[in-house]
Amino acid sequence: MRVLVKGKSREVRSIWHEGSLNIIDQTKLPHKLVFQKLSTVPAVAEAIRTMRVRGAPAIGIAGAYGVAMAQKPSVAAKLLKSTRPTAVDLANCIDEVMSVPPEKMLSKANEIFERTISACKRIGEFGEKLIGKNDRILTHCNAGALATGDWGTALSPIRFAHRNGKGVFVYVDETRPRLQGALTSWELLNEGIGHKVIADNARGYLMRKGEIDLVIVGADRVGAREGWIANKIGTYEVAVLAKENGIPFYVAAPLTTFDSKSLENEVIIEERNEREVLEIQGKLIFPKGAHAFNPAFDITPKEYITGIICEKGIFKPGELGRLLLLP
Ligand code: MRU
Repeated sequence: MRVLVKGKSREVRSIWHEGSLNIIDQTKLPHKLVFQKLSTVPAVAEAIRTMRVRGAPAIGIAGAYGVAMAQKPSVAAKLLKSTRPTAVDLANCIDEVMSVPPEKMLSKANEIFERTISACKRIGEFGEKLIGKNDRILTHCNAGALATGDWGTALSPIRFAHRNGKGVFVYVDETRPRLQGALTSWELLNEGIGHKVIADNARGYLMRKGEIDLVIVGADRVGAREGWIANKIGTYEVAVLAKENGIPFYVAAPLTTFDSKSLENEVIIEERNEREVLEIQGKLIFPKGAHAFNPAFDITPKEYITGIICEKGIFKPGELGRLLLLP
């Protein structure tokens, strides 16, 4: 991704390995670009849990390197898998690293990292074809380069369309409670892509006014058997509104986000600390003593999904079983 550092545009990856695992600390954005080295398994686990590194593919990559750096890979795998339960990339990438002998784990993690970035680039190339000139696109959460190492999933087709001169404009859901919309806005600003942030509850109004041509979101888990997707809380509402207003709703995700086993009712939806809802930047904004419910994800069933963009192409939710050759 292109990032403005001291006024100059530089190509930067949000996560990389150079003798050790390094990340952009996403909790410091959008105001400070801070890089952090993660040298121990507990440090990787903490970074994932607190969302210094976040986004399904990015935590999969971090988890893969976490296991590869461990003295006791199986203990590390258990700890790292427990950090965030909904994004299946974490478990998928850790299992992939665990499937090779210890001396090959680092090169397996490197392979997962490079493969994810290439997959995101392909997603951009395929997805760009769905975008028309001057389209206005709504996205939810941050499914950008920050969340994947580079390119992004939902943001990759938008990057390609912008670079190809299509004049796209993006409506960015603020994405309460963690405000990942600020990360999306930061990425779009860095690349000069026109956008406006909207409060989450403004999207229905815009859709009904005919101001949105297309929705593209990412995913934390794509249920290949049944065709649903799990993504940031609020995605289901976006999908229902899109269908009601006749707007195509696309999901972009690499194959590491696919789950070939789980049924919808088996997915664990992460519940995070109520303080994320009750406080803004550490300041309590609700009455002292109030409690909050804070589910981090929801599930969108297949009838609301126009198509799923992955590195193999664009598929209907009902075609995923065949794509993965499921019995
Ligand atoms: O809780 P987060 O910020 O990790 O949730 C991230 C999302 O829901 C993203 O949309 C998803 O992981 C796709 S990232 C390419």
